[in-house]
Amino acid sequence: MVFGRRPKDAVRRLEDGADRDELRAEGTTAAVIDASIEVDEGQIFVVMGLSGSGKSTLLRTLNGLLEPTAGTVRFDGQDLTSLSDKELRKVRSEKISMVFQHFALFPHRSVLENAAYGLEVQGVPRAEREKRAYEALELTGLKGWEKSWPDELSGGMQQRVGLARALATDADLLLMDESFSALDPLIRRDMQDQLLELQKTLKKTIVFITHDLNEAMRLGDKIAVMRDGRIVQIGSAEDILVTPANDYVASFTQDVDRTRVLTAGAIMTDAAEALGSTAPDGKKLATAADLLAAAPATVGLDTPIVDLFTPCSTSTVPVAVTDKAGKLVGVVRADRLLAVVGESGDQPTAAAVPAPADRKPSDTQDKKPGNAPADHDPEGKVITGA
Ligand SMILES: Nc1ncnc2c1ncn2[C@@H]1O[C@H](COP(=O)(O)OP(=O)(O)OP(=O)(O)O)[C@@H](O)[C@H]1O
Ligand SMILES: [Mg+2]
Repeated sequence: MVFGRRPKDAVRRLEDGADRDELRAEGTTAAVIDASIEVDEGQIFVVMGLSGSGKSTLLRTLNGLLEPTAGTVRFDGQDLTSLSDKELRKVRSEKISMVFQHFALFPHRSVLENAAYGLEVQGVPRAEREKRAYEALELTGLKGWEKSWPDELSGGMQQRVGLARALATDADLLLMDESFSALDPLIRRDMQDQLLELQKTLKKTIVFITHDLNEAMRLGDKIAVMRDGRIVQIGSAEDILVTPANDYVASFTQDVDRTRVLTAGAIMTDAAEALGSTAPDGKKLATAADLLAAAPATVGLDTPIVDLFTPCSTSTVPVAVTDKAGKLVGVVRADRLLAVVGESGDQPTAAAVPAPADRKPSDTQDKKPGNAPADHDPEGKVITGA
C-alpha cells in the first residue's frame, strides 16, 4: 500500500529492491510492503508493531477502506478489490465491524441508540435493532446502562459500547484497531479477559491491532509482527518467544513474562526419556501409568509454565503432561523449565536449550514455517476467511 505520488511506480521500485527510506525521501510512503496474511475463521489474529509500522493501513485494506496499490484482499470467497463501491459498502455494513481506539459515540444518543447504530445503518427496524443492542450491551457488561448518555460513562465503559455496537451487527469479521490502548492497565486487562470470554461462545474472526506485545500474546491465536511496513514474523505467541525470526523480534520479547505465555505443551519433552528411570521411593517408572502415578503433578498442554515451578521443585520425577483424553503426551523436567525461563531476547535464543525436535530453531529460522511468511505471495495477498 503506497501513499503519495505515482504509487504504481513506487511498487515497481520496491520490487526492484528500493527500500522504504529511499521512497520516503521522494515524498512517497510505502505503508505496507509485500504483506501476506491469512486469517482463519474464528481466530484472533493480532498485528503488532511500533507506531508507523503499517498496522492501521493493513487493517483498512481488509474492509476495503483502502484499496491496495498492488495485491488482492479475499474475504469470505470474494475478492474485495474487484467489488464496486456499492457492493463493498454492503459487505462492510453487513459482515465487517470496526472498533477504534477512541470510539466516537454520538453524545446526543443514548447508550442503547449508540449500540444500535450499526444496525440502523443496515436499515434494521427499530424494535429488532433495540433488541439486539440490548443483548450486545449485556454481553459487554453494560446491562442497566442502556438509557444513559455517553458522557455518564467512563472511558472503559464507552469502549464497551463500541464493542457492543460491533457485536450487535452480528458481523463475521471484527477489526479492532488499538481498541483497548487508551484504557487504564487494569481496565484494559479486564477488557482483554472479556473479549476472550466472549470469543469462547461467539467465535468471531477478529483482527486485533496493538503495539503492546503482552496484549498480543494474551489475545492472539496468531500474531504478525510488523516493522517498517513489512511483516517480519507470523506465528503463535510461543513461536515468537521461542524462535524469534530475527534480533528485532527477539528484542521485543525481552521483557515478556515467559512463565505466563509459554505452556507445558510448548516446552515438554518426550515422555520416553523419563520412562525406565527410578522414582525417589525406588519404584521403577516402566510405563506411562507408573509415571502418571509418581509425577508431582499432571497438567494439560495449555497449562502456563508458571504453574509448574512448585511441582518441579518438590520431586525428581518430571511433571506429566496429558492431552484432553488424559493420555500422557510429554514431561517437563525442572532443568528444562529453568533453561526456558532463563532465556531472554539478548541471549542466543532457544538454540541453547535442547528442545523437542520440531521446535528446534536453526540458522535458517527466517525460512521456517510459522516464522516469517515463507509462503510469501509477491502480490501481497491478504486473505481473511470468515
Ligand atoms: N492516508 C495516508 N496518507 C499518507 N500517508 C499515510 C496515510 N496513512 C498512513 N500513512 C503513513 O503510512 C505509514 C504507516 O501508517 P499506519 O497508520 O498504518 O501505522 P500504524 O502502524 O498504524 O501506526 P500507529 O501505531 O501510530 O497507529 C506511516 O508512515 C504513515 O505516515
Ligand atoms: Mg494505527
